[in-house]
Amino acid sequence: MKNLIDLLTTEVKSAFSACDLPEELGMVTVSNRPDLCEFQCNGAMAAAKREKKNPMDIASLVAEKLKDSSCFSSVEAVKPGFLNLNVSDGLLVKCLSEMDKADNCAVSAEEKKKIMIDYGGPNVAKPLHIGHLRSAIIGESIKRLGRFLGHEVIGDIHLGDWGLQMGLIIAELKERNKEFPDSISELEEIYPFASEKSKEDEAFREKAMSETFKLQHGDEQNLKVWKKIMELSVADLKKNYERLNVEFDLWKGESDADPYIAPMVERLKKEGYAHESQGALVVDVSEESDSKEVPPCMILKSDGASLYTTTDLATLVEREEDYSPDQIIYVVDKRQQLHFTQVFRAAKKTGIVPEKTALDFLGFGTMNGRDGKPFKTREGGVMRLEVLINDVTEEMYKKMKDNEGISLSEEEIRDTAESVALSAIKYGDLSNQAVKDYIFDIDKFTSFEGNTGPYILYTMVRIKSILRKYREKFGEKDISTFELRAPESREEKALMLTLAGFGVMVTSAFREIAPHRVCAYIYELSNEFNRFYHGTRILSESDEEKRNGWIALLSFALKVFSHCIDVLGMKEVDAM
Ligand code: ARG
Repeated sequence: MKNLIDLLTTEVKSAFSACDLPEELGMVTVSNRPDLCEFQCNGAMAAAKREKKNPMDIASLVAEKLKDSSCFSSVEAVKPGFLNLNVSDGLLVKCLSEMDKADNCAVSAEEKKKIMIDYGGPNVAKPLHIGHLRSAIIGESIKRLGRFLGHEVIGDIHLGDWGLQMGLIIAELKERNKEFPDSISELEEIYPFASEKSKEDEAFREKAMSETFKLQHGDEQNLKVWKKIMELSVADLKKNYERLNVEFDLWKGESDADPYIAPMVERLKKEGYAHESQGALVVDVSEESDSKEVPPCMILKSDGASLYTTTDLATLVEREEDYSPDQIIYVVDKRQQLHFTQVFRAAKKTGIVPEKTALDFLGFGTMNGRDGKPFKTREGGVMRLEVLINDVTEEMYKKMKDNEGISLSEEEIRDTAESVALSAIKYGDLSNQAVKDYIFDIDKFTSFEGNTGPYILYTMVRIKSILRKYREKFGEKDISTFELRAPESREEKALMLTLAGFGVMVTSAFREIAPHRVCAYIYELSNEFNRFYHGTRILSESDEEKRNGWIALLSFALKVFSHCIDVLGMKEVDAM
């Protein structure tokens, strides 16, 4: 079954061709004057230009053809040549009923793809801080959106596990005469300590670099220590991501790309893609059309050491070999844009990745504090992710306690507060276009009113509560057999039209890699629902058919809400 808007377009297109006008001009869009009509078609103007006729005459001609169409309740030609369209109740109800009965509200991608998402990207042994929060939240949502549409999506965390931080820790352990670290808290103390020390102590820095080199060249003892660090770190990361409702399919990292580096470098040299430049090995990636210079992509440093670009290219070799994905989406800080331009160009140019594979970089902005500077703790340090979650949960708990209507026990409030807090954090992030910086405003994000996660969850709780009260009052009934009915009011029709737009929204949000569109949609849906709710006495309605129709509408709306919440990686609650 097609989307409502596609059905309308088909109808208007056939009216254009019945008037001997080019069919493709019959495109229907959502009205940009909702006060005047629900949908519009501007094709008569283009047709008039082509045929050198008066647009109003053409619009009237097409309107005449559509006069008896069962798709529209009204079709009006208005100056200077627009077609103002209102959908018929019959078609609207039919569309929504079919969505309601189908899996996933009848939404699915036409062409299924294999897509990898590279997100999270924490660096092992460094504490997981809010810098990695955005990547995890946005990447998770894109993964879920893709899966919802039926694509095969593989999420890879791509750990930073092969760099100097490893050598720093190994060197410091040696200075302390320790073979292995014992705990994550020990690692968290050692890393910043060693990192600071390396800045002042040249000899120590050299030592750390040599330990890194040894690790990367197969030193057994260092590999053993590395494994232990990985074990401790990964266990801690898993715990943190689980709390965020973020789940990776692959826990691969830079280290996994290591075996692919030597043969890749060999090939690039042999086939003439890479050449020496000031001792280093590089691939030229500049293009004539570049307005800003794109420097060569460095593959090996002059001392033969590999770099961030090297591991990223070798990871592409590995991914191609293991999965040959149709698309890879990287969700990384936008300051790494140039790095990815170089990597993508080098990968395509050298045939590491076939031309048809889409490589996309979704660069995100910074999460700032209220002072407009990158978010920090009150003491000015880097905030640990778990501290942030705890703080927001505490604030949410307070707000829920203050909410007079709440009927939850102390324990239930405690349990629910973390889920709502998670929604507050995630929605606060995802509702902004990824590339933009945003201000983390705990007060705003945790508010029950306005464009916030808690407001959305609260609206869902309201629907759930009506359905619960319905059952209490009228007994257990199979609500799924209730039929949707034609809208009784403007507000109800507006709500139904928004619901009908769900499929188009999801499809374009994924195509544009734009989860903020899902947020904009559920915010609008919440507003439409609340307007309908305030104007309709659902449970006290005496006409059973009407009442049941509304119950059907509510349970369908709840389904759409749930899909959106899930796609955003938020968690529903039953009361708050
Ligand atoms: N670990 C990196 C960082 O913290 C992010 C990794 C992003 N993914 C990638 N394939 N480079 O900056």
